[in-house]
Formats: sequence, C-alpha cells, structure tokens
Amino acid sequence: MKKVIFDVDTGIDDALAMAYALNSPELQVLGFTTCFGNVSVEEATRNTLAILELMEKSVPVYAGAAKPLVREPREGYAKRVHGEDGLGNVLDFNPTTKAEVMSAADFIIEQVKKLPHEITIIAVGPLTNLMLAIQKEPEIKSLIKEVVIMGGAVYVPGNKTPYAEANIITDPEAAEIVLSSGMPITLVGLDVTLQTLLPKSTLGKWRETNSVVAQFFANMTEFYMDFYESNYPGIGGCGLHDPLAVGVAIDSSFVETKTVNVRVITEGEEVGKTVPNLEVEPKVQVCTEVDADRFVQHFLERVIK
Ligand code: BDR
Ligand code: CA
Repeated sequence: MKKVIFDVDTGIDDALAMAYALNSPELQVLGFTTCFGNVSVEEATRNTLAILELMEKSVPVYAGAAKPLVREPREGYAKRVHGEDGLGNVLDFNPTTKAEVMSAADFIIEQVKKLPHEITIIAVGPLTNLMLAIQKEPEIKSLIKEVVIMGGAVYVPGNKTPYAEANIITDPEAAEIVLSSGMPITLVGLDVTLQTLLPKSTLGKWRETNSVVAQFFANMTEFYMDFYESNYPGIGGCGLHDPLAVGVAIDSSFVETKTVNVRVITEGEEVGKTVPNLEVEPKVQVCTEVDADRFVQHFLERVIK
C-alpha cells in the first residue's frame, strides 16, 4: 500500500480523483493538502472536507497556499469550468469537520521526515504547496519516494492558453521550482489526460444507483460535461485529468513515459508552457501514451462504491 499525500484544489475532477483514490486499496491517503486554483484555498478546503463527509471518510485535511509565489490568483479562479462553488454548483451543505491547524507545507515536511522514502505525493493543482515545502526544507527532496503531478502539456497545446495547461500557468514559478528540483516526478499532462474521457452516458448510470455519492457526482459532473461540450464541441465527455494522476500512482502501466528534463516558461506570451529539454538533468517522466480504455474502466469500477 502506497502512503500518499494528496494535494488538491478541489474542483470537479479533483473530487472524482479523491473518490477514486479513497476507494483504491493500493493507496493509503495520509492527508489531503489544499491549494487555491480552481477556487480559493478556503473553498478548496471546504470542498475537500465536503467530499470526505459525503463519502463518510475520515482523512485529515491541511489548508495550504492562498496565492502563487509571485503573482496574484487569477480573477474568478476557474469557476467557469468548475462552478461558482467549485463543485458544479451542487454543494448544498456546509461540512461540519474542519481543517487541521498545521499548514499543508508543514504537513508534507513532517510526514516525509517521519517516513523517509515512503511518501508518494499526488499533486493535482498548482504546485505552490510542494514548492513551499521544498523551499522551507530542501532536504525532503531526496526523501520523497515519488511525485505524480497532473499538469503540463509537453507535446500538445495547452488548455488555458494555446501554450499552457491550467495547473502550471496558475503558478508557473512554483512549477519551475518543482519540475527542476530533481525529485522523481511523473508528469501526467494533457498529452494523456485529454485522451481519457468520461463518457456522457456515465451520468445516467450513476443516477440509476441509489448511492448518494453517485447522485452528487452525476449532478456535479454534468456541469463539467457541459463546459467540455461548449469548449470542445462533439467531444462527448469530460477529461479525467486529476483521476489519471491517481491511476498512474496506482498502476504506472496505464501510461508510457519518456524521460526528459522539463522547464517551465515563466514570462511572455508562452508563460506556463512546459518545454522538454533533452540535454539537461534532472529528469522527469513525461507521460506520452495512455491505455485510455483500461484506465477509464478501472476508474469507473472504483469511483462509486
Ligand atoms: C487541471 O486544471 C484544473 O482545472 C483541473 O482540476 C485539473 O487539475 C486540468 O488542466
Ligand atoms: Ca485540480
């Protein structure tokens, strides 16, 4: 069982990824750390607690960064994609549980030092929390077992701009620090996540069940599906970005990778672009191919219990 710290900016696909991870016996989620991104950090924390309550799971939540390293958060966050509440405008309760007092970065540092070479970090939002942790305690870089990141668009166009993927452009300076850190990183970017689509027919199937979680997820995901349909007409589903990072942490044979150095452009028109550089160390495993059918099937078998 992999010991996981799961860093989220809980939005819709983050919520689906949380459920997939929590229902997977290969992973033991020690804690969720939250970051601004799709929504504010307060909303991401609330949403993370709400999903845990909905699923009746008890896992500690640590609130993290409210803004990027050197920039301001973008106006309106990504609410156009994820809804005003970040969960497709279907959140109809306030969680009663609270986040822990410790910060996200301090939790990462504490756990990595306590369990050297045992912690897998799955990061599916901007990389600000991980950047803060390795800046504060650089020695943890060599003690983290692996980092699986949903972010980037190395050989394909971006989704936020023609060059940049949303998580990376949201805090490009943090992403550059993390990707050039030398940690064992697998980058699960749009190169593969846009091939893993959740079919629209899933919503009807979830609605036919008597699971409260399935009803919530169907209503929430419908909002995301509508966004995809308006942005990518005829696509017939929505991208399983964050769930694929979980899938890769569970079973790396879902993807094929290419080992390259990746740098992040931090200025100019191409800001947020993840650029492969074959000449420079350190190296990142960039996912280039995915067995989409097998992954989507695996996700569907697990996301709703
Ligand atoms: C990524 O951006 C966010 O909006 C999603 O939650 C995902 O992590 C996809 O580009
Ligand atoms: Ca996310």
